Amino acid sequence: MTTNHTMQLEGRRLIVIGAGDLGRELCAWFPELGISAFLDSRVTQWSDPGLPPIIGSPDTYWPQPNDVFLCAVGNPAARLVVSRNMEARGGKFISAIHHTALIASSSSLGAGSIVMPYAIIDINSHLGDHSLLYFRAGVGHDAIIGGGCVLLSNAVVGSRCVLGDCVVVSTLAFCNTGIAVGSFALIGANSFAARDVPSRSSAIGVPARIVNVCSERPAAAISVAVAV
Ligand SMILES: CC(C)(COP(=O)(O)OP(=O)(O)OC[C@H]1O[C@@H](n2cnc3c(N)ncnc32)[C@H](O)[C@@H]1OP(=O)(O)O)[C@@H](O)C(=O)NCCC(=O)NCCS
Repeated sequence: MTTNHTMQLEGRRLIVIGAGDLGRELCAWFPELGISAFLDSRVTQWSDPGLPPIIGSPDTYWPQPNDVFLCAVGNPAARLVVSRNMEARGGKFISAIHHTALIASSSSLGAGSIVMPYAIIDINSHLGDHSLLYFRAGVGHDAIIGGGCVLLSNAVVGSRCVLGDCVVVSTLAFCNTGIAVGSFALIGANSFAARDVPSRSSAIGVPARIVNVCSERPAAAISVAVAV
């Protein structure tokens, strides 16, 4: 798979949604993207003046013909919502793949996906739109990762796993080969999810036990877990 950012950008203006820690990390790890500006609904100014300006809120910004976007909102559900809202207004998203990441040519990535340094995607897998693979995260062969998922540093999703939308696989966690993980589920840090994980539940420990299945996962819980 080619990772040619120049081809995706071709003189366009890259705007990143989310002026938080993940936004700062994108500036540091993807200098070649030449991020032009940020959008954020809560922050209007960086404490570090060296970063590209915050020019408005994603809630009110209307995409210009030359704009392309990436979303650096850490909360998976919020990222998916804010990104899809921008797409509904005509906004186009690129993918950011670090040059040290390895992605098999038979695998595919949805729009807006972000692949950080040393992450690996094995053959014939799919990473859903607006998903995020953190440092050294791994996806086995023939796996399907839904939209808005986050694999934190060193997390591994085994081959043939199927993850729904907005799943968080925490640092050093492992999803056993072939399991299904429902949307909005969370696998705790250093945990081994041996069996299927229901939607909106947390699986923690080795082997993981399922805790707090809730009808609606509070956004705050996921924010704490991903801390980006
Ligand atoms: C799973 C997680 C979200 C749970 O957070 P929480 O809801 O605040 O849970 P609590 O801290 O209240 O813990 C509840 C119980 O689960 C246990 N527990 C929590 N996380 C655990 C984990 N990863 N593995 C094993 N047990 C865990 C706690 O020890 C506690 O046990 P107890 O009831 O016997 O005392 C959190 O522990 C976690 O793993 N977050 C991921 C962090 C991460 O990867 N960050 C990366 C930043 S780059």
